[in-house]
Amino acid sequence: MEKTFLMVKPDGVQRGLIGEIVKRFEQKGFQLVGSKLVHITKEQAELHYQEHKGKDFYERLVNFITSGPVFAMVWQGDQVIALSRAMIGKTNSLEAAPGTIRGDYAIHTHLNLIHGSDSPQSAEREIGNFFKPDELVDYSKVIQQWI
Ligand code: PPS
Repeated sequence: MEKTFLMVKPDGVQRGLIGEIVKRFEQKGFQLVGSKLVHITKEQAELHYQEHKGKDFYERLVNFITSGPVFAMVWQGDQVIALSRAMIGKTNSLEAAPGTIRGDYAIHTHLNLIHGSDSPQSAEREIGNFFKPDELVDYSKVIQQWI
């Protein structure tokens, strides 16, 4: 089953949007397999955003993501990487369509609430940067279905 790494950024945590964001992915039909509220280190942030090192927004991005707690999550489901990116919306605040998370809740490009992996390779690397394998659940081991 495809997995992705999603992270509510410090602005989303401070604005009390964790529940709203989790709700959208649950209602879409994806499964949450791991989550944690964590104040990440500069080293962890630099690893997470390593492909953007040198870009003009890099410093600002690392400072922002380490400025307060983030809510890190791993979700699984069919085409979860592409579909969750569509649900998140475009990075540029002027292009984020209404109905997307950024389109509905974000005004500024640099305060864009949520990160989502953009490829299977990024997802694997980003999940490994935030979670140990035993912090993710395996629903195939569930012994009783309650719903
Ligand atoms: S790029 O150059 O197209 O690869 O960049 P992009 O994918 O759009 O964005 C990469 C991450 O940088 C964040 N970003 C910014 N942060 C602060 N200020 C500005 N101007 C800015 N532009 C882009 C953007 O949100 C991406 O982070 P994540 O966490 O992946 O959303």
